[in-house]
Amino acid sequence: MKKILVNGGKPLYGNINVSGMKNAALPIIFACILTNDACTLENVPCVSDVELSLRILEEMGAKITRRSKTTVDIDTSRFEGGFSPYELVSRLRGSTYLLGAELGRFGEARVGFSGGCDFGTRPIDQHVKGFEALGATVTIENGCNVVKAGATGLHGASVYLDIASVGATINVMLAAVTAKGRTTIDNAAREPHIVDLANFLNICGAKISGAGTSFIKITGVEKLHGCNYTIIPDMIEAGTYMVAAAAAGGRVNVRNVIPKHMETVTAKLIEMGATVDEYDDYITVSRAGRLRHANIKTYFYPGFPTDMHPQFSALLSFAAGTSTVTEGVFENRFKYVDELTKMNANITCDGRTATIVGVPRLTGAPVKAVDLRAGAALVIAGLAAEGTTEITKVESIERGYDDIVGKLAGLGADIRMVEVPDEEGLRDAK
Ligand code: UD1
Repeated sequence: MKKILVNGGKPLYGNINVSGMKNAALPIIFACILTNDACTLENVPCVSDVELSLRILEEMGAKITRRSKTTVDIDTSRFEGGFSPYELVSRLRGSTYLLGAELGRFGEARVGFSGGCDFGTRPIDQHVKGFEALGATVTIENGCNVVKAGATGLHGASVYLDIASVGATINVMLAAVTAKGRTTIDNAAREPHIVDLANFLNICGAKISGAGTSFIKITGVEKLHGCNYTIIPDMIEAGTYMVAAAAAGGRVNVRNVIPKHMETVTAKLIEMGATVDEYDDYITVSRAGRLRHANIKTYFYPGFPTDMHPQFSALLSFAAGTSTVTEGVFENRFKYVDELTKMNANITCDGRTATIVGVPRLTGAPVKAVDLRAGAALVIAGLAAEGTTEITKVESIERGYDDIVGKLAGLGADIRMVEVPDEEGLRDAK
């Protein structure tokens, strides 16, 4: 088992390159099921959720060829629907996209319950509502969601989502691109990865407009063809490194970003007293002096991203004054609080709000990456803390960060990955 060791207190200097966006890569990888042709995806992040998605497709008959570390060919001409490797599917939230993609290609899908980070219940009622509107039936059989189109196939429909769910918007898009007629999705999610998926599908021959607004229109086409596509940069990875720079101090250029996607993070860092300068495709972050408290409410895009919530809580833990962080998207995203508390943070939770009283400094401690962004928050806390922070359950972090240790070490952080004997690792992971 692996651990990340961070010796805090070193300012960061230099350039850090952001990888492709995990949450765009996953739906696009599963969207490749919709065409019989091969697709070439570039700027694919080397993270374990992506590896897992590719393995799922491979086990279901797709041919996956790695051209380079970040370029992959996906040929689903021999892909077989109707079953899915339960053990793999149950480790990944993005595996729900198999439902929409297989429904679009084969008119049916049988997919085991998906996994991913535990933020409380994560229902798929809005996905189901969308599939049913398109003429499919959805049942649960032996631990699987089973979706079946009617005898005449899927047809276009008006879908109003009660919640602007990313996953439901994606699944309805996947199912609707080859349905007969016109589909509209009202109250659609507006996240940049929705736009990226729509761009990919349109290059493959789909007719989607309005992605990035809350009203998406899809005119069904008979079939899609293959294409070459480059995934957009990961705004959450970029935001994490911007917060890391503000936490550790120094001056960092976060490269390969779309500054427009970073607006909420940039504004909050400036409010806290960091200096942030935007350029065409990079952002520079520096800090001199102590950061100030701030209040944050997460919400659907273009609101403050829930996936940046734990990282900002880490930063606010040692900012001057009292801050609040209110979670507006997920039922329970506060499991990281106990870990930050071990590092001397003063945080109390009441319902969906954490109150953070800034302490003069955090102190290193053995802590556990309870989920993906919680893990990133602990790395950030470790960079700023006095002494050594030992982070276990590193695999949570590897789900969504491409070489976080190497990238931060490249900025001068004292951070390394070590292998620990299994017994010690198991004790820590409990
Ligand atoms: C995706 C991202 C995740 C991010 C989240 C919000 C992936 C693989 N994951 O998750 O990193 O934190 O968007 O930006 O891209 N909901 C329902 N019914 C549904 C669907 C969702 O009630 O049918 C609720 C959820 O419980 C949650 C909220 O809606 O409270 C948002 O969920 P959603 O946008 O669907 O997030 P995910 O697609 O699961």
